[in-house]
Amino acid sequence: MTVRLGDTAPDFTAETTQGTINFHEWLGDSWGVLFSHPKDFTPVCTTELGYVARIKPDFDKRNVKVIGLSVDPVDSHVKWEADIAETQGTPVNFPMIGDGDKKVSDLYEMIHPNASDTMTVRSVFVIGPDKKIKLSLTYPASTGRNFDEILRVIDSLQLTAKFKVATPANWVNGGDVIIGAAVSDEDAKTLFPQGWKTVKPYLRVLHNLSKTALVQWGNDPPDHNNRCFRHLCNKGVRLR
Ligand code: BEZ
Repeated sequence: MTVRLGDTAPDFTAETTQGTINFHEWLGDSWGVLFSHPKDFTPVCTTELGYVARIKPDFDKRNVKVIGLSVDPVDSHVKWEADIAETQGTPVNFPMIGDGDKKVSDLYEMIHPNASDTMTVRSVFVIGPDKKIKLSLTYPASTGRNFDEILRVIDSLQLTAKFKVATPANWVNGGDVIIGAAVSDEDAKTLFPQGWKTVKPYLRVLHNLSKTALVQWGNDPPDHNNRCFRHLCNKGVRLR
């Protein structure tokens, strides 16, 4: 089954290192990251799992739950976790799915036969609170992922879910953003009363999004766990 952007994330029930999980129930109202690794007791995977464990507070801050997966069984994951804690300095603090029957890997097409018949590739799916797929990435076994980039993308996804904006190349939280192409200049005047810079008619840059919050969140109070909200508060913006 091909899982594309905007699709509902396929639901499943699976055994994990933290017990049996029904995926949609487990996600609840949170965002989610489902990521696969090729094989337990392998070097790159060991560093990846250790790194994700280390930055889990950064996922928590963004209201994002993380869950790993490989086709190894749960008891193998549990044994491997001791090595990860020992060598990477942080115990694995999120569930890992044991997908021996490849049920979840097949649902999410995590096995790419021209790469390997038996191992999952390094897939990443970011899932929104509406259970829709917001991002998917595929890396080969030989290349460890940059999980800071995944946090950066989540910042963009969460921002663009709240505002009619898009984020430019290499954007990081707090940087200039672009007014969405579908927003007319007329509507933009209401949405972004602080003004913007028109570089080209299709390239309108917003320097100070924080003031916009007062307009856009007027009838839609922000989620207080939202990083964007906290970012604005840190900048001294008062929201109602
Ligand atoms: C690794 O994590 O290092 C790895 C896993 C499977 C194949 C190759 C490398």
